[in-house]
Amino acid sequence: MNKLTLWGIIITVAMLLFTYISVSGSEGGLHGDIINQLGVAGAVALVIITVYVVIGYVRQMQEKTADGQLADEQWDGIGEYLNEVPTGWAIMFLGTMIWGMWYFVAGYPVNSYSSIGEYNKDVAVENAKYEAQYGSITGDRLVEMGESVFLAECKVCHGLTADGIDGKAANLNHRIAAKSVKYTILHGSNNALLGMEMPMPDRNGLFNANSNALITDAQIDAVATYVANGLTGTGDGADVFAGTCASCHGPDGAGIEFVAPDLRAFTPKLVVNVLNHGKKAAIGTMPSFATKLNSKQKEAVGAYITSLSK
Ligand code: HEC
Ligand code: HEC
Repeated sequence: MNKLTLWGIIITVAMLLFTYISVSGSEGGLHGDIINQLGVAGAVALVIITVYVVIGYVRQMQEKTADGQLADEQWDGIGEYLNEVPTGWAIMFLGTMIWGMWYFVAGYPVNSYSSIGEYNKDVAVENAKYEAQYGSITGDRLVEMGESVFLAECKVCHGLTADGIDGKAANLNHRIAAKSVKYTILHGSNNALLGMEMPMPDRNGLFNANSNALITDAQIDAVATYVANGLTGTGDGADVFAGTCASCHGPDGAGIEFVAPDLRAFTPKLVVNVLNHGKKAAIGTMPSFATKLNSKQKEAVGAYITSLSK
Protein backbone atom coordinates (compact mmCIF):
# COMPACT_ATOMS: atom_id res chain seq x y z
CA MET A 1 0.00 0.00 0.00
CA ASN A 2 1.52 3.30 -0.89
CA LYS A 3 1.93 6.25 1.44
CA LEU A 4 -0.79 8.33 -0.16
CA THR A 5 -3.49 5.67 0.24
CA LEU A 6 -2.46 5.20 3.86
CA TRP A 7 -2.93 8.92 4.49
CA GLY A 8 -6.28 8.70 2.76
CA ILE A 9 -7.44 5.96 5.11
CA ILE A 10 -6.18 7.83 8.20
CA ILE A 11 -7.94 11.08 7.22
CA THR A 12 -11.16 9.24 6.31
CA VAL A 13 -11.28 7.41 9.61
CA ALA A 14 -10.53 10.60 11.56
CA MET A 15 -13.30 12.53 9.79
CA LEU A 16 -15.81 9.72 10.23
CA LEU A 17 -14.91 9.59 13.90
CA PHE A 18 -15.54 13.35 14.29
CA THR A 19 -18.81 12.99 12.42
CA TYR A 20 -19.89 10.12 14.63
CA ILE A 21 -18.95 11.91 17.86
CA SER A 22 -20.68 15.16 16.90
CA VAL A 23 -23.86 13.43 15.74
CA SER A 24 -24.14 10.95 18.60
CA GLY A 25 -23.80 13.82 21.08
CA SER A 26 -26.90 15.50 19.71
CA GLU A 27 -30.42 14.90 20.94
CA GLY A 28 -31.91 11.59 19.73
CA GLY A 29 -28.44 10.27 18.98
CA LEU A 30 -27.51 8.01 16.20
CA HIS A 31 -29.64 5.12 17.39
CA GLY A 32 -33.22 4.81 16.39
CA ASP A 33 -33.39 8.08 14.45
CA ILE A 34 -33.54 7.31 10.75
CA ILE A 35 -32.87 10.93 9.74
CA ASN A 36 -29.64 11.06 11.73
CA GLN A 37 -28.56 7.74 10.32
CA LEU A 38 -29.18 8.89 6.77
CA GLY A 39 -27.27 12.10 7.55
CA VAL A 40 -24.29 10.16 8.79
CA ALA A 41 -24.42 7.81 5.80
CA GLY A 42 -24.35 10.85 3.50
CA ALA A 43 -21.47 12.35 5.41
CA VAL A 44 -19.52 9.09 5.19
CA ALA A 45 -20.07 8.94 1.44
CA LEU A 46 -19.01 12.57 0.99
CA VAL A 47 -15.89 12.13 3.08
CA ILE A 48 -14.81 8.99 1.24
CA ILE A 49 -15.44 10.50 -2.20
CA THR A 50 -13.66 13.75 -1.31
CA VAL A 51 -10.58 12.05 0.07
CA TYR A 52 -10.21 9.69 -2.87
CA VAL A 53 -10.79 12.34 -5.50
CA VAL A 54 -8.10 14.48 -3.86
CA ILE A 55 -5.76 11.49 -3.78
CA GLY A 56 -6.46 10.88 -7.46
CA TYR A 57 -5.50 14.46 -8.36
CA VAL A 58 -2.36 14.46 -6.26
CA ARG A 59 -1.28 11.30 -7.97
CA GLN A 60 -1.94 12.77 -11.36
CA MET A 61 0.27 15.71 -10.49
CA GLN A 62 3.00 13.39 -9.33
CA GLU A 63 2.97 10.98 -12.23
CA LYS A 64 1.30 12.31 -15.30
CA THR A 65 3.25 14.19 -17.96
CA ALA A 66 1.29 16.39 -20.28
CA ASP A 67 0.94 15.59 -23.96
CA GLY A 68 -0.36 17.67 -26.82
CA GLN A 69 0.93 20.32 -29.19
CA LEU A 70 2.80 23.36 -27.84
CA ALA A 71 2.21 26.88 -29.14
CA ASP A 72 5.10 28.56 -30.96
CA GLU A 73 5.58 31.30 -28.36
CA GLN A 74 7.65 30.53 -25.31
CA TRP A 75 8.57 32.69 -22.37
CA ASP A 76 11.89 31.72 -20.81
CA GLY A 77 11.21 28.13 -21.73
CA ILE A 78 7.66 28.13 -20.45
CA GLY A 79 5.22 27.30 -23.20
CA GLU A 80 1.52 26.96 -23.68
CA TYR A 81 -0.51 24.03 -25.03
CA LEU A 82 -2.75 24.57 -27.97
CA ASN A 83 -6.00 23.56 -26.34
CA GLU A 84 -9.48 24.17 -27.63
CA VAL A 85 -11.48 26.55 -25.46
CA PRO A 86 -13.64 24.22 -23.35
CA THR A 87 -17.26 24.38 -24.55
CA GLY A 88 -18.54 25.14 -21.05
CA TRP A 89 -16.27 28.17 -20.80
CA ALA A 90 -17.28 29.44 -24.21
CA ILE A 91 -20.97 29.11 -23.35
CA MET A 92 -20.46 30.90 -20.05
CA PHE A 93 -18.46 33.65 -21.75
CA LEU A 94 -21.11 34.31 -24.39
CA GLY A 95 -23.86 33.92 -21.82
CA THR A 96 -22.23 36.50 -19.57
CA MET A 97 -22.04 38.96 -22.48
CA ILE A 98 -25.70 38.50 -23.33
CA TRP A 99 -26.72 38.71 -19.72
CA GLY A 100 -24.55 41.82 -19.32
CA MET A 101 -26.37 43.57 -22.15
CA TRP A 102 -29.73 42.56 -20.80
CA TYR A 103 -28.73 43.72 -17.32
CA PHE A 104 -27.56 47.11 -18.57
CA VAL A 105 -30.55 47.84 -20.76
CA ALA A 106 -33.55 46.07 -19.28
CA GLY A 107 -32.18 44.94 -15.94
CA TYR A 108 -30.89 47.22 -13.28
CA PRO A 109 -28.94 50.38 -14.26
CA VAL A 110 -30.94 52.02 -17.06
CA ASN A 111 -34.28 50.68 -15.99
CA SER A 112 -33.69 51.11 -12.31
CA TYR A 113 -35.53 52.75 -9.51
CA SER A 114 -33.95 56.02 -8.48
CA SER A 115 -35.00 58.32 -5.70
CA ILE A 116 -34.12 61.36 -7.85
CA GLY A 117 -36.34 59.96 -10.60
CA GLU A 118 -39.17 59.45 -8.15
CA TYR A 119 -38.69 62.97 -6.79
CA ASN A 120 -38.77 64.44 -10.31
CA LYS A 121 -41.92 62.49 -11.10
CA ASP A 122 -43.61 63.71 -7.92
CA VAL A 123 -42.57 67.29 -8.67
CA ALA A 124 -43.97 67.00 -12.20
CA VAL A 125 -47.27 65.69 -10.83
CA GLU A 126 -47.50 68.47 -8.23
CA ASN A 127 -46.58 71.11 -10.82
CA ALA A 128 -49.33 69.84 -13.09
CA LYS A 129 -51.84 70.15 -10.21
CA TYR A 130 -50.50 73.60 -9.44
CA GLU A 131 -50.80 74.61 -13.08
CA ALA A 132 -54.38 73.32 -13.21
CA GLN A 133 -55.35 75.26 -10.09
CA TYR A 134 -53.41 78.51 -10.49
CA GLY A 135 -52.35 78.55 -14.15
CA SER A 136 -55.03 81.03 -15.20
CA ILE A 137 -54.23 83.65 -12.55
CA THR A 138 -53.27 87.04 -14.03
CA GLY A 139 -53.17 90.71 -13.14
CA ASP A 140 -53.28 91.84 -9.50
CA ARG A 141 -53.74 88.32 -8.18
CA LEU A 142 -50.60 87.24 -9.99
CA VAL A 143 -48.72 90.09 -8.32
CA GLU A 144 -50.07 89.02 -4.91
CA MET A 145 -49.03 85.46 -5.58
CA GLY A 146 -45.58 86.77 -6.54
CA GLU A 147 -45.39 88.69 -3.30
CA SER A 148 -46.00 85.55 -1.28
CA VAL A 149 -43.32 83.71 -3.25
CA PHE A 150 -40.99 86.65 -2.65
CA LEU A 151 -41.65 86.61 1.09
CA ALA A 152 -41.00 82.87 1.24
CA GLU A 153 -37.94 82.60 -1.00
CA CYS A 154 -36.31 85.98 -1.59
CA LYS A 155 -36.67 88.21 1.45
CA VAL A 156 -33.76 86.52 3.29
CA CYS A 157 -31.40 88.27 0.88
CA HIS A 158 -33.39 91.06 -0.74
CA GLY A 159 -35.17 92.18 2.43
CA LEU A 160 -38.82 92.49 3.39
CA THR A 161 -39.28 95.55 1.18
CA ALA A 162 -36.94 94.26 -1.54
CA ASP A 163 -34.50 97.11 -0.88
CA GLY A 164 -31.49 94.78 -0.90
CA ILE A 165 -30.71 95.15 2.84
CA ASP A 166 -28.06 97.90 2.59
CA GLY A 167 -26.49 96.58 -0.56
CA LYS A 168 -26.31 92.89 0.42
CA ALA A 169 -28.39 91.99 -2.62
CA ALA A 170 -29.83 94.00 -5.48
CA ASN A 171 -32.37 96.68 -4.61
CA LEU A 172 -35.34 95.47 -6.62
CA ASN A 173 -37.31 98.69 -6.23
CA HIS A 174 -34.92 100.30 -8.63
CA ARG A 175 -33.77 98.89 -11.95
CA ILE A 176 -30.06 99.26 -11.38
CA ALA A 177 -27.51 101.16 -9.26
CA ALA A 178 -24.63 103.22 -10.74
CA LYS A 179 -22.15 100.86 -9.08
CA SER A 180 -23.63 97.90 -10.95
CA VAL A 181 -23.66 99.69 -14.30
CA LYS A 182 -20.02 100.64 -13.83
CA TYR A 183 -19.11 97.09 -12.91
CA THR A 184 -20.86 95.76 -16.01
CA ILE A 185 -18.98 98.15 -18.29
CA LEU A 186 -15.62 97.33 -16.68
CA HIS A 187 -16.06 93.56 -16.60
CA GLY A 188 -18.65 92.85 -19.25
CA SER A 189 -21.58 90.64 -18.37
CA ASN A 190 -22.32 87.01 -19.10
CA ASN A 191 -25.37 86.10 -17.05
CA ALA A 192 -27.79 84.93 -19.74
CA LEU A 193 -30.02 87.89 -18.91
CA LEU A 194 -31.70 87.39 -22.28
CA GLY A 195 -32.33 83.76 -21.44
CA MET A 196 -29.45 82.64 -23.64
CA GLU A 197 -25.73 83.09 -24.08
CA MET A 198 -25.34 86.69 -25.26
CA PRO A 199 -22.55 88.38 -23.34
CA MET A 200 -21.94 92.10 -23.18
CA PRO A 201 -18.33 93.09 -24.00
CA ASP A 202 -16.18 94.76 -21.33
CA ARG A 203 -14.70 98.25 -21.73
CA ASN A 204 -12.11 97.04 -24.23
CA GLY A 205 -14.94 96.28 -26.62
CA LEU A 206 -17.01 99.41 -26.07
CA PHE A 207 -16.36 102.06 -28.77
CA ASN A 208 -18.01 105.36 -29.32
CA ALA A 209 -19.61 105.21 -32.74
CA ASN A 210 -18.90 108.91 -33.40
CA SER A 211 -15.24 109.15 -32.40
CA ASN A 212 -14.44 105.41 -32.75
CA ALA A 213 -12.42 105.61 -29.50
CA LEU A 214 -12.62 103.33 -26.45
CA ILE A 215 -14.81 104.50 -23.60
CA THR A 216 -12.87 106.55 -20.98
CA ASP A 217 -13.12 106.48 -17.17
CA ALA A 218 -14.94 109.81 -17.11
CA GLN A 219 -17.42 108.57 -19.71
CA ILE A 220 -18.03 105.39 -17.70
CA ASP A 221 -18.88 107.44 -14.60
CA ALA A 222 -21.15 109.72 -16.57
CA VAL A 223 -23.06 106.96 -18.34
CA ALA A 224 -23.38 104.90 -15.13
CA THR A 225 -25.07 107.80 -13.39
CA TYR A 226 -27.27 108.40 -16.41
CA VAL A 227 -28.45 104.76 -16.54
CA ALA A 228 -28.92 104.55 -12.76
CA ASN A 229 -31.10 107.68 -12.92
CA GLY A 230 -33.47 105.91 -15.25
CA LEU A 231 -31.93 107.25 -18.47
CA THR A 232 -33.27 110.72 -17.92
CA GLY A 233 -31.50 114.01 -18.41
CA THR A 234 -29.02 115.30 -20.92
CA GLY A 235 -25.30 115.94 -20.87
CA ASP A 236 -22.24 113.69 -21.07
CA GLY A 237 -24.04 110.56 -19.83
CA ALA A 238 -26.77 110.83 -22.43
CA ASP A 239 -24.19 111.49 -25.15
CA VAL A 240 -22.09 108.48 -24.20
CA PHE A 241 -25.18 106.31 -24.09
CA ALA A 242 -26.27 107.44 -27.51
CA GLY A 243 -22.79 106.93 -28.95
CA THR A 244 -21.76 103.67 -27.24
CA CYS A 245 -24.70 101.82 -25.73
CA ALA A 246 -27.73 102.64 -27.84
CA SER A 247 -26.68 100.42 -30.72
CA CYS A 248 -27.44 97.40 -28.52
CA HIS A 249 -29.69 98.68 -25.73
CA GLY A 250 -31.79 100.89 -27.99
CA PRO A 251 -31.85 104.72 -28.08
CA ASP A 252 -34.15 104.85 -25.03
CA GLY A 253 -32.47 101.95 -23.19
CA ALA A 254 -35.53 99.74 -23.54
CA GLY A 255 -33.42 96.94 -24.95
CA ILE A 256 -33.65 95.09 -28.23
CA GLU A 257 -34.95 91.56 -28.39
CA PHE A 258 -32.11 88.98 -28.70
CA VAL A 259 -29.53 91.83 -28.53
CA ALA A 260 -29.52 93.49 -25.11
CA PRO A 261 -31.82 93.76 -22.08
CA ASP A 262 -34.01 96.63 -20.94
CA LEU A 263 -32.09 99.01 -18.67
CA ARG A 264 -35.04 101.20 -17.69
CA ALA A 265 -37.25 98.81 -15.79
CA PHE A 266 -37.53 95.23 -14.67
CA THR A 267 -39.61 93.04 -16.92
CA PRO A 268 -41.08 89.68 -15.89
CA LYS A 269 -38.93 88.08 -18.60
CA LEU A 270 -35.71 89.53 -17.20
CA VAL A 271 -36.56 88.38 -13.67
CA VAL A 272 -37.41 84.88 -14.91
CA ASN A 273 -34.08 84.75 -16.75
CA VAL A 274 -32.23 85.79 -13.59
CA LEU A 275 -34.12 83.11 -11.65
CA ASN A 276 -33.30 80.44 -14.23
CA HIS A 277 -29.63 81.25 -14.68
CA GLY A 278 -28.60 83.04 -11.49
CA LYS A 279 -26.44 86.14 -11.71
CA LYS A 280 -22.91 87.11 -10.76
CA ALA A 281 -22.09 90.79 -10.75
CA ALA A 282 -21.04 93.82 -8.68
CA ILE A 283 -22.96 92.94 -5.53
CA GLY A 284 -22.40 89.23 -5.42
CA THR A 285 -24.03 86.04 -6.55
CA MET A 286 -27.72 85.56 -7.05
CA PRO A 287 -28.44 81.82 -6.75
CA SER A 288 -30.37 80.04 -9.48
CA PHE A 289 -33.97 79.12 -8.72
CA ALA A 290 -34.35 77.12 -11.92
CA THR A 291 -35.70 74.02 -10.21
CA LYS A 292 -36.82 75.47 -6.87
CA LEU A 293 -39.75 77.36 -8.32
CA ASN A 294 -42.17 76.21 -10.98
CA SER A 295 -42.81 78.33 -14.04
CA LYS A 296 -46.01 79.90 -12.68
CA GLN A 297 -44.23 80.91 -9.48
CA LYS A 298 -41.41 82.47 -11.52
CA GLU A 299 -43.90 84.35 -13.65
CA ALA A 300 -45.67 85.57 -10.52
CA VAL A 301 -42.55 86.78 -8.72
CA GLY A 302 -41.48 88.42 -11.98
CA ALA A 303 -44.77 90.30 -12.07
CA TYR A 304 -44.34 91.30 -8.43
CA ILE A 305 -40.84 92.70 -8.94
CA THR A 306 -41.90 94.48 -12.10
CA SER A 307 -44.72 96.08 -10.10
CA LEU A 308 -42.36 97.40 -7.39
CA SER A 309 -40.76 100.17 -9.40
CA LYS A 310 -43.94 101.36 -11.04
C1 HEC B 1 -22.63 94.83 -28.16
C2 HEC B 1 -23.87 95.10 -27.53
C3 HEC B 1 -23.84 95.90 -26.25
C4 HEC B 1 -23.31 97.14 -26.04
C5 HEC B 1 -22.57 98.05 -27.03
C6 HEC B 1 -23.63 97.48 -24.67
N1 HEC B 1 -24.30 96.45 -24.06
FE1 HEC B 1 -24.93 96.39 -22.18
N2 HEC B 1 -25.54 94.47 -22.42
C7 HEC B 1 -25.50 93.79 -23.60
C8 HEC B 1 -25.96 92.45 -23.39
C9 HEC B 1 -26.08 91.37 -24.43
C10 HEC B 1 -26.27 92.37 -22.02
C11 HEC B 1 -26.76 91.13 -21.27
C12 HEC B 1 -25.52 90.39 -20.76
C13 HEC B 1 -25.82 89.19 -19.90
O1 HEC B 1 -26.60 88.35 -20.31
O2 HEC B 1 -25.25 89.15 -18.81
C14 HEC B 1 -25.98 93.65 -21.45
C15 HEC B 1 -26.15 93.95 -20.11
C16 HEC B 1 -25.97 95.20 -19.58
C17 HEC B 1 -26.19 95.54 -18.19
C18 HEC B 1 -26.56 94.59 -17.10
C19 HEC B 1 -28.01 94.65 -16.70
C20 HEC B 1 -28.25 93.89 -15.43
O3 HEC B 1 -29.42 93.74 -15.06
O4 HEC B 1 -27.31 93.42 -14.80
C21 HEC B 1 -25.92 96.86 -18.06
C22 HEC B 1 -26.03 97.70 -16.80
C23 HEC B 1 -25.52 97.35 -19.37
N3 HEC B 1 -25.57 96.30 -20.26
C24 HEC B 1 -25.17 98.65 -19.61
C25 HEC B 1 -24.56 99.04 -20.80
C26 HEC B 1 -24.03 100.36 -21.02
C27 HEC B 1 -24.10 101.50 -20.02
C28 HEC B 1 -23.49 100.36 -22.25
C29 HEC B 1 -22.74 101.48 -22.93
C30 HEC B 1 -21.59 101.95 -22.24
C31 HEC B 1 -23.69 99.05 -22.82
N4 HEC B 1 -24.37 98.30 -21.91
C32 HEC B 1 -23.30 98.66 -24.08
C33 HEC B 1 -25.09 94.25 -24.82
C34 HEC B 1 -24.45 95.48 -25.01
C1 HEC C 1 -28.82 84.05 -1.32
C2 HEC C 1 -29.31 85.38 -1.48
C3 HEC C 1 -30.37 85.64 -2.51
C4 HEC C 1 -31.62 85.07 -2.63
C5 HEC C 1 -32.23 83.99 -1.75
C6 HEC C 1 -32.24 85.71 -3.73
N1 HEC C 1 -31.40 86.62 -4.30
FE1 HEC C 1 -31.79 87.77 -5.92
N2 HEC C 1 -29.91 88.52 -5.85
C7 HEC C 1 -28.99 88.27 -4.88
C8 HEC C 1 -27.79 89.05 -5.14
C9 HEC C 1 -26.53 89.04 -4.30
C10 HEC C 1 -28.03 89.76 -6.31
C11 HEC C 1 -27.11 90.78 -7.00
C12 HEC C 1 -26.33 90.19 -8.12
C13 HEC C 1 -25.49 91.30 -8.72
O1 HEC C 1 -26.05 92.04 -9.53
O2 HEC C 1 -24.35 91.41 -8.29
C14 HEC C 1 -29.37 89.42 -6.73
C15 HEC C 1 -29.97 89.90 -7.89
C16 HEC C 1 -31.28 89.68 -8.25
C17 HEC C 1 -31.89 90.18 -9.45
C18 HEC C 1 -31.19 90.93 -10.56
C19 HEC C 1 -31.31 92.37 -10.48
C20 HEC C 1 -30.69 93.01 -11.69
O3 HEC C 1 -30.42 94.19 -11.61
O4 HEC C 1 -30.47 92.35 -12.72
C21 HEC C 1 -33.20 89.77 -9.43
C22 HEC C 1 -34.25 90.06 -10.46
C23 HEC C 1 -33.37 89.00 -8.22
N3 HEC C 1 -32.19 88.93 -7.53
C24 HEC C 1 -34.55 88.41 -7.85
C25 HEC C 1 -34.66 87.48 -6.83
C26 HEC C 1 -35.87 86.73 -6.54
C27 HEC C 1 -37.17 86.90 -7.28
C28 HEC C 1 -35.58 85.89 -5.51
C29 HEC C 1 -36.49 84.87 -4.85
C30 HEC C 1 -37.10 83.89 -5.72
C31 HEC C 1 -34.19 86.10 -5.14
N4 HEC C 1 -33.67 87.07 -5.95
C32 HEC C 1 -33.54 85.44 -4.14
C33 HEC C 1 -29.14 87.42 -3.82
C34 HEC C 1 -30.25 86.61 -3.59
